[in-house]
Amino acid sequence: MRVLPATLHTLVTVTRSNLEVTLSEVVDPALPLTPHSGLAGMSVMVTGAGSGIGRAAVAALVAAGARVLAVGRTEQALKETAAEAAGPGEASWTRADIRRSEDVEAAVRVTEERYGPLQGAFNAAGTFGRFGPLHGDDPENFADVVGTNLGGVWDCMRHQLPRIREAGGGSIVNCASVAAHLGHARSPLYSATKHAVIGLSKSAALQYAADNVRINVVSPGSTDTPMLRSLYPSEEALDTRRHRAPLRRLGTSQDVAGAVLWLLDSTASGYVTGQTVIVDGGVTAGSS
Ligand SMILES: NC(=O)c1ccc[n+]([C@@H]2O[C@H](COP(=O)([O-])OP(=O)(O)OC[C@H]3O[C@@H](n4cnc5c(N)ncnc54)[C@H](OP(=O)(O)O)[C@@H]3O)[C@@H](O)[C@H]2O)c1
Repeated sequence: MRVLPATLHTLVTVTRSNLEVTLSEVVDPALPLTPHSGLAGMSVMVTGAGSGIGRAAVAALVAAGARVLAVGRTEQALKETAAEAAGPGEASWTRADIRRSEDVEAAVRVTEERYGPLQGAFNAAGTFGRFGPLHGDDPENFADVVGTNLGGVWDCMRHQLPRIREAGGGSIVNCASVAAHLGHARSPLYSATKHAVIGLSKSAALQYAADNVRINVVSPGSTDTPMLRSLYPSEEALDTRRHRAPLRRLGTSQDVAGAVLWLLDSTASGYVTGQTVIVDGGVTAGSS
């Protein structure tokens, strides 16, 4: 018999060979039946929250009952994120540049002042930087891309981990990319920093497992956000990305947010740490 999902809502009948099993008869009634029940009231910080994947994660978290601080550099975008989020949870915002340690420290403090001990974080902020051949790159771009994608995630965790540990445990999700699993012809540097996010996250997961802090990664494929559209500005270029995916479409920010919520919710993914969920429409599954 199959292992049954804990969040089953309705009667589902599975037909396998000649055997019919009514799943509702065998679901453990003690298991929570509300999707993401573990997120209700959770105090969470989300970086990169002014647009794209970070914004969608804030909306989904608030809809699931979490209390979320939306963090980024652009005030107007953050205001929109917080205003759009609706549900039993709540959201507010603060400005922070994750390349600046004092900003990151302040954002963690603000989350706790508004929502209580930090229990979760989605470190989504990232930059693609300049693209082109490596020999045309320069130290300024290096500092920006490494400082944001690796340094920023490292610094966020450096400030988040002691707080989450003190709260008795929780969950951190860092954002990598398909470019953490494959090279990226447009930017070796971006790909390198995203590979690094996985190494950083796996290693930190080992260090903090005994403190009941889980650390995982989400790796989006081509996801329809401002970042993707700045890289592939024409419909023709976007079509190439669509057709590259076995599922034949771009990912949505909500597709990625779904994986993030699962990883943040300890009632759903409580035995998962040091892992990466790839949300890429099948691109890294292999070639056809
Ligand atoms: N879209 C894709 O196809 C795709 C694929 C793989 C991975 N990803 C990853 O997904 C994450 C989210 O990207 P997205 O696609 O949603 O792009 P996006 O819409 O451009 O969002 C990136 C966000 O990061 C924020 N940010 C950038 N640098 C920051 C800094 N130094 N401090 C604070 N915030 C900063 C930006 O806001 P401000 O500029 O206002 O601060 C922006 O809101 C990134 O880590 C990206 O690498 C995206």
